[in-house]
Amino acid sequence: MNNNQILIIKKTIEYVKGSQQGESTGHDWWHTERVWKLARNIAKTEKADIFIVELAALLHDIADFKFNNGDEKAGSRVSREWLEKIGVNEEDVDHICYIVENVSFKGANVKSKINSIEGMIVQDADRLDALGAIGIARTFAYGGSKGREIHNPNYKAELHDDFEKYKSSQNSSIGHFYEKLLLLKDKMNTTTGKEMALDRHKFIEQFLEEFFDEWEGKK
Ligand code: NI
Repeated sequence: MNNNQILIIKKTIEYVKGSQQGESTGHDWWHTERVWKLARNIAKTEKADIFIVELAALLHDIADFKFNNGDEKAGSRVSREWLEKIGVNEEDVDHICYIVENVSFKGANVKSKINSIEGMIVQDADRLDALGAIGIARTFAYGGSKGREIHNPNYKAELHDDFEKYKSSQNSSIGHFYEKLLLLKDKMNTTTGKEMALDRHKFIEQFLEEFFDEWEGKK
């Protein structure tokens, strides 16, 4: 990256920090920082434009649809305003905004529209942060913020083929593991992402096993 690009990244970090500070549903600045670090890590083994990867990772949850009354375009709109303001060229702005708009998981059977290696890297990084110990912590934080139960044995998990239905799922937090988290390892894009997802996936399976043993009073 050249000096101007490094400066743009620095400014964007401050901007995102300011707008995500104190967020309590698992989409806070620390989530963004982890995704940014993961994305940089994955990018090392891929031929990718690191400037695009870093900016898209930093902006990927700037106005998440979950918090904008279901407005899917809010994130790319806010990103575009910011990137134009700090002088990023039009082609890069378009690419970054496309990633921001399409990075999210939208249901078990909804195909992702991500089509560039930079987007695939950011998507893998975001998905890794939904797995493992951190993924578990974030699932319950998010579920609580949505008024969801920890677990309800009467609710059957659904595999959504429609984003609207996925968004309005009334599932418990444990149900969310079956509607999203456990499916992620098979949806990773890059080789590095796939490898990293395996360990985190195993950890979630162990957690669920323990959870259900305790739920049934077995241990
Ligand atoms: Ni995210």
